[in-house]
Amino acid sequence: MLRTLVTVVLLWGLSALPGTAAADTARFEGYKVCIKCHDTHEKPWRDTAHARAFDSLKAGSGREARLKADLDPDKDYTADSDCLGCHTTGYGKPGGYAVDLPKARARRLAGVGCESCHGAGSLYREIHSDAEHRLKLEAESTDRSELVAAGQNFDFADACAGCHLNYEGSPWQHAKAPFTPFTPQIDAKYAFDFDTAIRGEAIHTHFRLYGVFSGEPVPPFREEFQDTAEEIE
Ligand code: HEC
Ligand code: HEC
Ligand code: HEC
Ligand code: HEC
Repeated sequence: MLRTLVTVVLLWGLSALPGTAAADTARFEGYKVCIKCHDTHEKPWRDTAHARAFDSLKAGSGREARLKADLDPDKDYTADSDCLGCHTTGYGKPGGYAVDLPKARARRLAGVGCESCHGAGSLYREIHSDAEHRLKLEAESTDRSELVAAGQNFDFADACAGCHLNYEGSPWQHAKAPFTPFTPQIDAKYAFDFDTAIRGEAIHTHFRLYGVFSGEPVPPFREEFQDTAEEIE
């Protein structure tokens, strides 16, 4: 009885928050915090173009692509606010990448990191650890609505669009400057098809989830990815 009451009060507390309040106070922490537990995901992520996205801003990289997009091939763009929003993690947001960060912290946030897709992690990562204990000690799973309230993102199409469909004339209605220089008008290969891209090499490979969390939201492709996911020993 007491327990039910505590749960009811806790849930009421969560729903009393305005929609995105917690998400708004969450801070970006950098990939190192995530891989403390998800060490499985480090290499598969490092092997993607996203992990290396910061390098594309260095002088001389992506020479031909830059010329096509009217960018200077020899210029160093690593401190350019017109570029950093899509080539780093959480640029300009609390805890996120900034030009004047100490080197060690900058390295954790350079490139498109875990939190660029999964959301700023300072609040939900604590739930991940609590929820694991709860499953072990009480054999209970934790509802995903708690993750959403803490700022974890499950709307992957929207996350990708923020970088890939952010250009003038884009089908994505929230597009605003600074835009990506690499649009389908420059080269048809830059057209972004979510259904293809989400299954492609730019996303880390998948690992088995063991039911620490349950309930909605579950991305539409979760079952498909879990069917072929690698086991974690
Ligand atoms: C203290 C350890 C810990 C940390 C730190 C942590 N996680 Fe988790 N995470 C877990 C555990 C445990 C699960 C549940 C896995 C399962 O169900 O098998 C989980 C689940 C997840 C899931 C799947 C959620 C679902 O829908 O079931 C995602 C995505 C995820 N973590 C991403 C992250 C990201 C991104 C970070 C960094 C901001 C992070 N985690 C930090 C332990 C952690
Ligand atoms: C924070 C911005 C950002 C987000 C969010 C993002 N991307 Fe990217 N993506 C990039 C950048 C920048 C590159 C180019 C990396 C480079 O080569 O510098 C890229 C590259 C790619 C590529 C091309 C890879 C290659 O090998 O040429 C694909 C495909 C892709 N992303 C798919 C996705 C999908 C799917 C999502 C959402 C789940 C997503 N991206 C989310 C910024 C982002
Ligand atoms: C609104 C997001 C956004 C902004 C702003 C942005 N980029 Fe990117 N950039 C991307 C995405 C997305 C890709 C991956 C395109 C793809 O492969 O489909 C990319 C790819 C690149 C590439 C690799 C292209 C290739 O084909 O190899 C270079 C180089 C690059 N960006 C440099 C820059 C520079 C320099 C700036 C600033 C002047 C900049 N970007 C600003 C999103 C952005
Ligand atoms: C470009 C976007 C993107 C980036 C960057 C990214 N992920 Fe994911 N991640 C996804 C997608 C898409 C899924 C599949 C969604 C699902 O099943 O809920 C996923 C699933 C997961 C899961 C659930 C189990 C699995 O493997 O499918 C965990 C845990 C996870 N990611 C952790 C991480 C960590 C840790 C990092 C950084 C080292 C990271 N992700 C970087 C897009 C991304």
